[in-house]
Amino acid sequence: MSSKLGKKNKLLRGDSIVYDVNNHNWVNESINRLKDNILYWGLDKDRKVIQIESSVSGEAKTTTAVNLAVALGASGKKVIVVDLDFRKPRVHRPFLIENVGGLGDYLLDKIPFEKAIKKTSYDNVYICNRGSSIQSSSFILTSEKMSDFIKHLREEFDFVLLDSPPVLMISDYIHIARLSDGVVFNVASGKTKKNQVKEAINLLKMNNIKIIGAVFTFYNPDSSYRGDYYGYGKYYYNKGYGDEK
Ligand SMILES: Nc1ncnc2c1ncn2[C@@H]1O[C@H](COP(=O)(O)OP(=O)(O)O)[C@@H](O)[C@H]1O
Ligand SMILES: [Mg+2]
Repeated sequence: MSSKLGKKNKLLRGDSIVYDVNNHNWVNESINRLKDNILYWGLDKDRKVIQIESSVSGEAKTTTAVNLAVALGASGKKVIVVDLDFRKPRVHRPFLIENVGGLGDYLLDKIPFEKAIKKTSYDNVYICNRGSSIQSSSFILTSEKMSDFIKHLREEFDFVLLDSPPVLMISDYIHIARLSDGVVFNVASGKTKKNQVKEAINLLKMNNIKIIGAVFTFYNPDSSYRGDYYGYGKYYYNKGYGDEK
């Protein structure tokens, strides 16, 4: 149902970068709203690493991450999207960059830091693709080299977006949360079950992981359907973001 809703509307093409700073359609304004909240949140200089999450796969985490990155870049912020979804690495795709020589290679000492970071064709936007496959994700995510890598990115970038695997699939979210300053949680309208969303949020809360905002994806303004979990549409930010544990 959700993908049909999306396909009807040309603005909702998946896997692609739809953000255009000069366009004021509702999709762009929704991404702007998310971006502006992140900019405000990031005024505190210690907060810049954002974990992009959802309950299950296919809730548009990667789509949110790359469009948010392009929007932040267009606002003059230097931003990087790091692919931490080791099983389904997709961050390189919308930027038409090959998935070679990335994080996996850097962590295995095959390439230097600079080679793992790639400039995209969008202003101020960089990615770190996964590169070579990573077998033991929890070992890698908890390694000193990984935390040093994120520390290095904190020094070089205004914002670091961590594209992550879904909460209900694998416990990587716990390790990624130790590297991040907060979670942006995606909910796919008409797709994800209410109990899945509740379970994922409970897991985050149980682990004291800060949810700084929520994004309602696959929303279609032409449809009367508004989902059965949150009564809001488009990209949306929680009130009191940054306060929620
Ligand atoms: N708003 C949308 N409308 C329709 N399709 C979408 C939308 N956002 C993402 N998609 C598509 O849904 C699929 C899953 O999106 P993706 O961002 O890769 O999800 P995730 O990273 O959560 O697994 C992709 O094929 C993508 O092209
Ligand atoms: Mg993804």
